[in-house]
Amino acid sequence: SSEGTEHDVVVIGGGPGGYVAAIKAAQLGLKTACVEKRGALGGTCLNVGCIPSKSLLNNSHIYHQIKHDVKHRGIDVEGVSLNLEGMMAAKDKSVKGLTSGIETLFKMNGVDYVKGTGSIANETEVKVQPLDGGSEISLKTKNIIIATGSEATPFPGLEIDEKKVVTSTGAIALSEVPKKMIVIGGGIIGLEMGSVWSRLGAEVTVVEFLEAIGGPGMDADMAKTMQRILAKQGIKFKMATKVLSGDASGEGVSLNIESVKNGKTETLDADVVLVAIGRRPYTEGLGLENVGIETDERGRIIIDQEYRTKHSNIRVIGDVTFGAMLAHKAEEEGIAAAEFIKKGYGHVNYGAIPSVMYTHPEAAWVGQTEQEVKKSGKEYVVGTFPFIANSRAKTNLDTDGMVKFIADKETDRVLGIHIVGANAGEMIAEGVLAIEYGASSEDIARTSHAHPTLSEAFKEAAMATYDKAIHA
Ligand code: FAD
Ligand code: NAI
Repeated sequence: SSEGTEHDVVVIGGGPGGYVAAIKAAQLGLKTACVEKRGALGGTCLNVGCIPSKSLLNNSHIYHQIKHDVKHRGIDVEGVSLNLEGMMAAKDKSVKGLTSGIETLFKMNGVDYVKGTGSIANETEVKVQPLDGGSEISLKTKNIIIATGSEATPFPGLEIDEKKVVTSTGAIALSEVPKKMIVIGGGIIGLEMGSVWSRLGAEVTVVEFLEAIGGPGMDADMAKTMQRILAKQGIKFKMATKVLSGDASGEGVSLNIESVKNGKTETLDADVVLVAIGRRPYTEGLGLENVGIETDERGRIIIDQEYRTKHSNIRVIGDVTFGAMLAHKAEEEGIAAAEFIKKGYGHVNYGAIPSVMYTHPEAAWVGQTEQEVKKSGKEYVVGTFPFIANSRAKTNLDTDGMVKFIADKETDRVLGIHIVGANAGEMIAEGVLAIEYGASSEDIARTSHAHPTLSEAFKEAAMATYDKAIHA
């Protein structure tokens, strides 16, 4: 048992940030415990985020493709029908396999897994209310890592019941395909989950406050390209539109919306409304007040460059503090935080963290957007290459999208890479490496890429940045 012995590190939260920090700390020889209250490891990402959404994205894509996109490939299929229960079971199986896999990793690395809600009592003590209802446990520790993650930002006046008015958590578990679905917020969650239900037969309308989809951080050209493609797939967009109020008292839900541009109002009805307007840090019941740790105006716990709060032995990583709310970002911070504790140094390159939206086609990017480069005042060049001119994309009959490079005009150093296309999420890894190594676009263009692959489009966009592409 964990009680009684003093730990070197107690991690609060078992998501991608927390569980990775715990494993790394244990690997570095530190006596480590990880406190998690949901009854399973893996956090938002594995239980209700990345993993279940990707399962549904993959399988809804296969279903949609078999139903609508095989005839011209010379494949005749009949009697295709959706077994939603089966699709949900496949999702649950993937989730279960991965979350229990982390439990095994904890055992292999000697991490104490404490099931319960952790609360910081003082700088060197975490109290745990066990999940099974037993009496409170006290964990004495030299260091604390807070990794409590985030939760969906609610929409004022619309009560979430996870059935009719849902966050992503309800949207990955609907028991039937809604006839009409409205998505509030055209960011990553809205577009991923909107895609899933649209493919499965729902009429999906996305209401977005801004004039561009994709949430913060998507290059404007890519957002436009992506919106055009998703619209072609049947998703409707109400851009620059504000939701004023909602009413879920009837059978469905009705929303009053208003154009930001001309103030025109309109009522939209739906069976299900997905609220996807962002996520906010989660610190409820954590006991921050007991140690005087502060959050900023957006609820993020304030830390320094080494993830330290005002108490140098209490560090914070992942969604609950600054930066992109991404699983791999939280994981990098988990490793760095453990290394800081053990060795006194650690590092995350925030300029080289990829973003991927797992729609079809995918959108993926790393580094700066063109808007950001422009704003920085740096002179730059842009090179693009469309997948319609790529042999493999043409062979696959999957030609939507393009690759866009942005490089420093003077040095040719790559500043940003933006891809919309099938497999963009895998392809971007090459871009991340390029930025990590400070590559020029010419370095990439002179690197041999296998033929025929989609990654040749990547190479040709690099060519088009400092010279001319061959195939376009
Ligand atoms: P979390 O994963 O939120 O984990 C925090 C954990 O702490 C939770 O399990 C919680 O129960 C626990 N906890 C909180 N308070 C306490 C306490 N007091 N005591 C004990 N335990 C506590 N990111 C990607 O990179 N790729 C994706 O494809 C992707 N898809 C997503 C899809 C959806 C629908 C959502 C919602 C998110 C997605 N994300 C994705 C974001 C990703 O899930 C988060 O960035 C990531 O989970 C953050 O990790 P974390 O460890 O900081 O926090
Ligand atoms: P988001 O920040 O990506 O997008 C929210 C969108 O809602 C923005 O476009 C915003 O302008 C809009 N919006 C905000 N308030 C609005 C209002 N009142 N009316 C209409 N539109 C409004 O947030 P989202 O999609 O909820 O995702 C949360 C986080 O989860 C993201 O930051 C992302 O990092 C993470 N995530 C990552 C995924 C991935 O990596 N593939 C997948 C899903 C989530």
